[in-house]
Amino acid sequence: MSGLLIKGALIYGEGGPVDVFVADGEIRQIGTDLGIVDAEIIDAKGQILLPGFVDLHTHLREPGREDTETIETGSAAAALGGYTAVFAMANTNPVADSVVVTDHVWRRGQEVGLVDVFPVGAVTVGLEGKQLAEMGTMAAGVGAVRMFSDDGHCVYDPLIMRRALEYSNSLGVLIAQHAEEPRLTKGAVAHEGPTAARLGLAGWPRAAEESIVARDALLARDAGARVHICHASTAGTVELVKWAKSQGISITAEVTPHHLLLDDSRLETYDAVNKVNPPLRESSDAAALRQALADGVIDCVATDHAPHAEQDKCCEFAVARPGMLGLETALSIIVQTMVRPGLLDWRGVARVMSERPAQIVGLDDHGRPLEVGEPANLTLVDPDAAWTVRAAELASISNNTPFEAMTFPAKVTTTLLRGRVTARDGKAVGLGTGGS
Ligand code: DOR
Ligand code: ZN
Repeated sequence: MSGLLIKGALIYGEGGPVDVFVADGEIRQIGTDLGIVDAEIIDAKGQILLPGFVDLHTHLREPGREDTETIETGSAAAALGGYTAVFAMANTNPVADSVVVTDHVWRRGQEVGLVDVFPVGAVTVGLEGKQLAEMGTMAAGVGAVRMFSDDGHCVYDPLIMRRALEYSNSLGVLIAQHAEEPRLTKGAVAHEGPTAARLGLAGWPRAAEESIVARDALLARDAGARVHICHASTAGTVELVKWAKSQGISITAEVTPHHLLLDDSRLETYDAVNKVNPPLRESSDAAALRQALADGVIDCVATDHAPHAEQDKCCEFAVARPGMLGLETALSIIVQTMVRPGLLDWRGVARVMSERPAQIVGLDDHGRPLEVGEPANLTLVDPDAAWTVRAAELASISNNTPFEAMTFPAKVTTTLLRGRVTARDGKAVGLGTGGS
């Protein structure tokens, strides 16, 4: 029987080293003396085997800004980061508010073959917040859209949000909200606080996020629907999500690696590589987010991978586009912020980076247990590696990482999608038309 034999891995970082035999896209055997002779061997000594990561929040920029990222290059970045599934946000050009665009994203992702690229559909036509997009048609397409978001923009009109939640319920899909009350953030470029005041940057108050989180929790309650909060960034959002969950409201939330690690002290240099939306907050917010992720109040990690061209970042802070690369650095930052301080163990990493995100969108073949008979969507991590981020060496077309020259622990060495190696030792391996 030919296949792939992963030798000597620590499953969830627990117990002793075992061998895992993968064939026909599945985990076939797990044990210490499998007697497999005809298989490609992956030496995984000292490495940790996890379910492939699932990113609910990725910007791949295709169609429209292929100068900054494509489905192919973004998929390569994802595979190298240990991901087997990503959700591509709808703020492309044209906007993914029609089945033509969402089906294209799905098909192109499958053609490239590095990760499953699930299209996110827009909630409203053109992300304008005025008229609901044809969610049903997108959900019924080959791309089978299961998550809708106007990310980049907030569905700010409470009546439109209410209708979207009601429809999402009957369609069995998820609405993911970019929580930002636009009346409170007009012209804002940085977290409203002492740092922005000193630097003369217009402030984005916490209340702009928190007021929408509170409102949407109540709207979800009344609609009997689920709502997902994108990139939670404040301690107050943590408290509100905790309260809503305690009331039995179906609310879930994600946090980005950059909001766990960085704070607004980074703005001192006025380097717009640190500009992101929602903005980097204060260190007390980052601490509350880390604790909430450990406690399960925040369900999962999502990257908000947001590639931008040099001319859109290397310019005056106020006019630069918000966003940072995230796919290739996510695991290492989670190890640095959560695993090393003892807030999460490796099983916890599997939970927040793979299992919970897969459950939130109802994927049945990602984020699965590491057991015989399960799909071989897998990631191997070297926990003892240390590496220094160099934008020029990342697979993304764009270079806007705030982590340039920073050294992080742990590295993804290998990613498998349905039993096929998609990334190994820093190289992505796509299908005929894909790869890098
Ligand atoms: O920083 C951000 N960048 N936040 C968003 O909501 C959108 C994203 C983008 O598309 O660049
Ligand atoms: Zn957003």
